Amino acid sequence: MRESKVIVDRRFTIGETDKRLFGAFIEHLGRCVYGGIYEPGHKTADSNGFRQDVMDLVRELAPTIMRYPGGNFVSGYNWEDGVGPMETRPARLDYAWLSTEPNTFGTNEFIDWCKMAGIEPMLAINLGTRGAKEAGEFIEYCNHPGGTALSDLRRSHGWEQPHGVKFWCLGNEMDGPWQTGAKTADEYGRIAVESAKVMRWVDPSIELAVCGSSGRNMSTYGAWEDTVLQHSFDQVEWISLHTYLNNYADDTAAFLASPDLMDSFIEEVVAIADAVAARRRSTKRIMLSFDEWNVWYRTRRKTGNRTRPGWPVAPPILEEIYNMEDALTFGGACISLLNHADRVKAASLAQLVNVIAPIMTETGGDAWRQTIFWPFAQISNHGRGTVLRTIVESDTYNTAYFDPRGPNDSAIPLPAVPYLKLAAIHTAEGVSLFALNRDLTQPLRMNAELSGFGKLRLTEAQTLHDPDLKATNTQDAPDRIAPTPLQGVSIEGSTLTAELPAASWTMLRLGKA
Ligand code: AHR
Repeated sequence: MRESKVIVDRRFTIGETDKRLFGAFIEHLGRCVYGGIYEPGHKTADSNGFRQDVMDLVRELAPTIMRYPGGNFVSGYNWEDGVGPMETRPARLDYAWLSTEPNTFGTNEFIDWCKMAGIEPMLAINLGTRGAKEAGEFIEYCNHPGGTALSDLRRSHGWEQPHGVKFWCLGNEMDGPWQTGAKTADEYGRIAVESAKVMRWVDPSIELAVCGSSGRNMSTYGAWEDTVLQHSFDQVEWISLHTYLNNYADDTAAFLASPDLMDSFIEEVVAIADAVAARRRSTKRIMLSFDEWNVWYRTRRKTGNRTRPGWPVAPPILEEIYNMEDALTFGGACISLLNHADRVKAASLAQLVNVIAPIMTETGGDAWRQTIFWPFAQISNHGRGTVLRTIVESDTYNTAYFDPRGPNDSAIPLPAVPYLKLAAIHTAEGVSLFALNRDLTQPLRMNAELSGFGKLRLTEAQTLHDPDLKATNTQDAPDRIAPTPLQGVSIEGSTLTAELPAASWTMLRLGKA
């Protein structure tokens, strides 16, 4: 048994979690929309074609904000194609995913779906093939009350009231050579600021997110953020970050350590954004929108491989099947986001259904939870509140993480990775602890001193672990990996003791005694 000591003090705070920290992402990609959230004719579909079995799981997962419609897809998208009578909507080639987009689901259907799910919509505009004019027209269609051509067009389509979308993304991954209409930092900075200007003229109440690098491993990372923010600082509230963690090397210890690189990424982008502010002597603080994050590697397209014969509609692509160790790394990423709640005020798990997703479906069949469903549902349902700065004394290990798109495809050294990764949240009910034990062979005893909360009692202890780290949930065994009660957790005075199984994710909830 490995020992660890932790101090959690009510007075040592990082910040409040923003509701938008617990978001997700729906892209027109594979079966995320068609056969995922939307499947007219499915036995659970309502009159809109929204699958209610999926809706039930979405409610349980509890995402708070939903990014749409891409992703790479948005950089070739004409929003006009997805509104108005179905019979007049064109089918188009989607360059991002080499598919045919039927456009039978579009912005208005997305807004209705969000309303039904109780989720805030986040819309992205196309800055790949389009620019300020189309951005202004799109926001006029969505948010202008009426009396103009495009707002009246929305009303004629059956949506009398404006959608009132507040959160807008200025394009997607514009630094990536794979992006339709990729740009240099200066080109993107200019088009972003001009689009932002027009959008705000149309609706001054909106918030805008500018694209950061599409990953920390991009060769332009750092310089990109700096240049783009130099252009757009006065016009935007947010900058985006994207990370997909991988286990290409089949090195579980390194894989479980990899969320720590998200900590570095966040802290670096904060430093760059604040340096841009400092040059202007500005007290404005740009907030971070981590609007794509997940584990993803098995179904990633190899660089340069851009063929998909036949341009299919909703092909089953990027359907990553998540195993036990993926859920652990994913849980580590949840902890990284929570522990930066002061600056990461929005985040979107990429994605929601079928495509690198916590929810899987069979088209025409069932829906079920993947392993990564569980840590997300737990933090979203029980991790909202004041994040506390924990002191963790834990043994460490040394490893190196293989990052295929990194400089020279090299391994990134990760020295002194603590076996215990922890987030503590002071919630309305008491305290929630989310703990990752990265020791693959031994349980870890966590002795936590809890200060300033008064008397606490254990209300829930759930752990996710399995001796088979490669075990998955399938349609036939949908609950193979699911949380189980953790036995033996004790609270004596202000000391909590819990034995975290080897290679486990654990949620402990403490209420006022
Ligand atoms: O989420 C899948 C894809 O990953 C998105 O479309 C893109 O933005 C990123 O490269």
